[in-house]
Amino acid sequence: MGSDDVTEHAAPLRTPVLVDCDTGIDDAMALLYLLACPHIEVVAITSVFGNNTAARCAHNTLRVLQLAGHSHVPVAVGAESPLVGEVTYLATHVHGTDGLGDAGLSTEVVAEPVSLTATELIARTAREHAGRLRILALGPLTNLANALAAHPDLVERVADVVVMGGAADAPGNQTPAAEANVVHDPEAAAAVLGAPWTTTLVPLDVTMREVVTEQHVAQLVAAGNPIASFVAAISEFYFDHYGMQSYGRRSSPCHDAVAAGVLTGDVVPSVFPRIDVVVDCTDGPARGATICDTRGKYRGFDGVAEGNCRVALVTDGTFPDLLVARLGAGSSA
Ligand code: RIB
Ligand code: CA
Repeated sequence: MGSDDVTEHAAPLRTPVLVDCDTGIDDAMALLYLLACPHIEVVAITSVFGNNTAARCAHNTLRVLQLAGHSHVPVAVGAESPLVGEVTYLATHVHGTDGLGDAGLSTEVVAEPVSLTATELIARTAREHAGRLRILALGPLTNLANALAAHPDLVERVADVVVMGGAADAPGNQTPAAEANVVHDPEAAAAVLGAPWTTTLVPLDVTMREVVTEQHVAQLVAAGNPIASFVAAISEFYFDHYGMQSYGRRSSPCHDAVAAGVLTGDVVPSVFPRIDVVVDCTDGPARGATICDTRGKYRGFDGVAEGNCRVALVTDGTFPDLLVARLGAGSSA
């Protein structure tokens, strides 16, 4: 059989993705969604403080990987504090004491975190997949900032970075001005968003309008598979926090899963300009705000000069339907 025969039957290459996360409820949704995508390969995961400690988030990641049958994916424990200052809070009130909605997912895991630091795992993975590796950042950006500082050539080795974080024209969630991932470590966010790699920002402007409802949870329960049942259970905890305070009914966003959908191409923002984004690193009331230059909105962002970041501003609100279908299917839907 000639090489052509082999070529025409070769399986398409899957896209390698490194996920940096503070697993948490919506981080878990994002991981399970990616693991169910046939054209994506999650090749490494690094944990960071935020929803809980980095160590606990790494353990939670291993719990989720085990649920999905992917315990082979290497997980490194990353930063436990921001570049500047100390951890001021952990979002256990949002994600539960254990970080996964206290939903009873087994804490017994067969795998352990790797001995590499997050910086070392990011650098090694970027070398192994030079030019093709995509990074999905779902927590404070401390690990990525540290990796950039240690390996400036990372910007040439990484295809692009998709970040769940910030707020363009929308209010913050941690403070009126700032979104949680960014305000946990504004200096790190400024370094990552200001670096010369291809960056996409998925802010609260879109993630707060992609809403998981009780109907979605009912569909997950009806699917009757362990992954769908787990996502149903952690969604209920998320509803307890977000429901009445944000939407006036039991429901929640799925921030990180939406960013995963943007990375996979399943979420196509209808307003998606490349604009300048700067992070407020002062110590005033706007600390951690992402100041996005959306002044071009009145002309549909036509002809706006190239900015440092492509920012998703509007999506159609249907992503939770796809998330539920894919997770409910128990594999790639
Ligand atoms: O503001 C939402 C973000 O903060 C999400 O990534 C959530 O998991 C928390 O990390
Ligand atoms: Ca997160």
